[in-house]
Amino acid sequence: MNIIEIIERKRDGKELTCEELAFFVRAYTEDEIPDYQAAAFLMAFYLRGASWKETFYLTESMVKSGQLMDLSSLPGLKIDKHSTGGVGDKLSLTALPLAAAAGLPIAKMSGRGLGHTGGTLDKLESVPGMNIALTESEMIKQVGEIGLCINGQTKELVPADGKLYALRDVTATISSVPLIAASIMSKKIASGTDKILLDITVGNGAFMGTLAQGVELAQLMVQIGQNFGRETKAIVTNMDQPLGNAIGNYLELREAFSCLEGNGPEDLRQLTLHFAARMVQMAGNSKSMSEIIPELTQLIENGQALKRLHLMLEKQGGQIDSLDQKDYLEDVEQILVLAEKDGFVKTIETKSLGLFVVSLNGGRMTKDAPIDHAVGLELQVKKGMYVQRGQPLLRVYCRKNQREWVEERKYILQKHFVLNALEERSEDLILKEIGFEEVQG
Ligand code: URA
Repeated sequence: MNIIEIIERKRDGKELTCEELAFFVRAYTEDEIPDYQAAAFLMAFYLRGASWKETFYLTESMVKSGQLMDLSSLPGLKIDKHSTGGVGDKLSLTALPLAAAAGLPIAKMSGRGLGHTGGTLDKLESVPGMNIALTESEMIKQVGEIGLCINGQTKELVPADGKLYALRDVTATISSVPLIAASIMSKKIASGTDKILLDITVGNGAFMGTLAQGVELAQLMVQIGQNFGRETKAIVTNMDQPLGNAIGNYLELREAFSCLEGNGPEDLRQLTLHFAARMVQMAGNSKSMSEIIPELTQLIENGQALKRLHLMLEKQGGQIDSLDQKDYLEDVEQILVLAEKDGFVKTIETKSLGLFVVSLNGGRMTKDAPIDHAVGLELQVKKGMYVQRGQPLLRVYCRKNQREWVEERKYILQKHFVLNALEERSEDLILKEIGFEEVQG
């Protein structure tokens, strides 16, 4: 088979065959196709889109590029939750310990932050000593013992995605519905989970800008999961502002602790309870959401959910005693960004805030760049709130040597908050649900 002909066919809008897609994935994974041809292929795919069959075959070939994880030795149904990515999205750190405290075995493979979006692994690594490179058997053993493990993706699992994702990130081909669907679903299928709950984020901090795109992506991913025989459901959530207030690895972990201690922020608490409750239902509990949510609230109130997160961190080598905020933030400067006028917060430029954290070294622009876990941002306002001139909009956490650089950019940060004289209608956090009986949206 000839890669140039395959690129040409896709460029000209022809439907690729299962064999052509399998050839591309195998040959690129095995370094037989150079990056420049793979980049041309991806761009053709991005611009032309893909049929259902092409997306399914691409996913299937990616699954076959590596080994499959076998979770069958763990008793009970294994349910995974996965987000398409966002800013301030620390939901895996809150909803999964809560679901584990409710008795669900959770074996989760997470990713690192890329571009403007954060990644659960980076947040976990803000705990000194934390090991997110457990072997498959270590991971299974830990889930057997404490019911919860969040780990990095092993090298053997979907190696095709590791290469393709890194290439997409630097060729402006991330935000493609079929490519995102194949990337995420291949990893979920290979990770051996029985059921999958997807968080499809939509808005100016997500890869999908509009609700219509988000719903299209959600339906496609649900269909792929079902075709592999894995029950898959999706919740489309609002990412038109960061989730919670904290953006940045340590700050987000601290906020996750706070949520599991029973405190705010309200949006994080609401989604934490909602996602965990949906997972409990997917595990076979036939109670309604209004019955399950109070039970889960109780697991937060009595400290069980937080205990589960602590147990996991400690079990994976994390030294949680060293997370005392005074020590952690000792060398960190805090700078407030103030409102330049009165008004209601109409827009928060979420992606730009995510990129600002990256430029403070809180995220990475290239796959293996080292990051600074302590830097970040903390929103002082959310959309719809009324602020007066001089009131804080944002708190920046940066290193001493970044102070001047941040001070010079305060006016840019100010502009990321658009203020309006008119009060805005409040927006829903959950925009749509796909696959559930009592559906929202
Ligand atoms: N997360 C992934 O794992 N893949 C994508 O393509 C986008 C988000």
